[in-house]
Amino acid sequence: VGDPDLCTSPHIVNALIDAAKDPDNHHYPSYLGMPAYRQAVAGWYNRRFGVDLDPDTQVISLMGSKDGVAHIPEALTGPGDYVLVPSPGYPVYSTGALFAEASTYEMPLTRENSFLPDLDAIPKDIAKKAKLMWINYPNNPTSAIAPLSFYQEVVEFARENGIVVVSDNAYSEITFDGYRAPSFLEADGAEEVGIEMHSLSKTFNMTGWRIGMAVGNKEIIRGLGIVKTNIDSGVFNPVQYAAIAALNGPQDCVADACRIYQERRDVLVSGLTKLGFDVTMPKATFYVWMGVPDSISFAARMLDETGIVVTPGVGFGKSGEGYVRFAITRSADRIREAVERMEEVSW
Ligand SMILES: Cc1ncc(COP(=O)(O)O)c(C=O)c1O
Repeated sequence: VGDPDLCTSPHIVNALIDAAKDPDNHHYPSYLGMPAYRQAVAGWYNRRFGVDLDPDTQVISLMGSKDGVAHIPEALTGPGDYVLVPSPGYPVYSTGALFAEASTYEMPLTRENSFLPDLDAIPKDIAKKAKLMWINYPNNPTSAIAPLSFYQEVVEFARENGIVVVSDNAYSEITFDGYRAPSFLEADGAEEVGIEMHSLSKTFNMTGWRIGMAVGNKEIIRGLGIVKTNIDSGVFNPVQYAAIAALNGPQDCVADACRIYQERRDVLVSGLTKLGFDVTMPKATFYVWMGVPDSISFAARMLDETGIVVTPGVGFGKSGEGYVRFAITRSADRIREAVERMEEVSW
């Protein structure tokens, strides 16, 4: 599971503690997020990506990005509509569409196309019936990254076909070797066609806190807000204060986490390479995507013979077959031990 083993920084935890002591924070929060939280999100987007957002209309709080991923199809789609989902991909893209009674079309992410969807291969009739398209870079599970030029192509495709694009950018901050991931909203015209979802889960080791954001096109944000006001009642204010401390505070905790993951990545990928496995060095995310002949039987063998859990690629969609995913959410020493255990087995 993509759940960091690293701790949330003390300055973030302390912001929660202080805010939790204030009885004013014990009431229902704002549906859309406190103005101060939405301003902190807009400020972070500006500093990090150079993207300007109006905090009043272009930012909404989420209970983790999963909340937004699961609920946005309710705002935009219904029976007869298509949702374009990456395969392999985060499974909630499809289940969210299913709950809204929309159909899904799986866009294969193949090694030959650098794990980017081939937009020209999407059948024209499906593209015309599609209302929503998911993109997710840096990518779970393949750990692939996307250049800004790809986002530009997505904007054109969305314009031509009248499709709303949602970029799930949950892993933008988990990057290595000096790579900086762009935001979809940096592409020209992106704000006309889409939004981006983001999360503090992976960036600040806050998976359990349940806080994220959706930002971008006003109308789409408004639609998501309407659905959410009927489902939840916002994020507990002290969690929002903690998130403000994370977004506005020192960012060295993010750089420290990336250094730790990078060391783990190096240990795992060099170990797997020595063993002759088909693996490439990821530039982002805390996943390693490895080619295998049959994902379920390989994962079963791995568990039985080494006690190591890897996720079979087919669990992320049909096109995930032929791969397994490692999550480097354990210490470098444990990963060394895992490699040693794999060395004992004749693959
Ligand atoms: C691609 C992707 N999107 C969204 C999420 C949801 O994260 P959260 O709800 O904690 O923000 C995850 C979690 O693993 C993920 O991998």
